[in-house]
Amino acid sequence: MTLVDEARRVRENAYAPYSRFKVGAALRDRAGRIHVGCNVENVAYPEGTCAEAGAIAAMVAAGQTEIAEIAVIADSPAPVPPCGGCRQKLAEFARPEARVTLATVAGERLETTVGDLLPGRFSAAHMGGA
Ligand code: THU
Repeated sequence: MTLVDEARRVRENAYAPYSRFKVGAALRDRAGRIHVGCNVENVAYPEGTCAEAGAIAAMVAAGQTEIAEIAVIADSPAPVPPCGGCRQKLAEFARPEARVTLATVAGERLETTVGDLLPGRFSAAHMGGA
């Protein structure tokens, strides 16, 4: 199964009763293992979590800390880009050149990279004087 297929499958489990917008994410870590996540909303809206955050948490819980590649899918008119917070989360665990595939359920694909999604990112180097 491709990463997009994995993301499509986990998207079905998304808990999105408030937005009704289900998102699935699947990433491959440096060891070649796949980790998946879906959005999990909450009646206290800000407490909801994105699909990307779920996949990252699963990777870290499995003992890995580097994303080699990630795919995100939603049933949207155009491929949905990760939110600002998720871009920073991806940048924490991926090299700038790591591929990000944004997909729609209808079959559209947009390929980008973690670096292109978050140019000028805040990194540990900026805390050099700390
Ligand atoms: N969402 C994600 O899970 N990932 C994205 O990349 C975009 C947005 C979720 C958050 C919320 O549950 C719903 O989509 C609507 O914003």
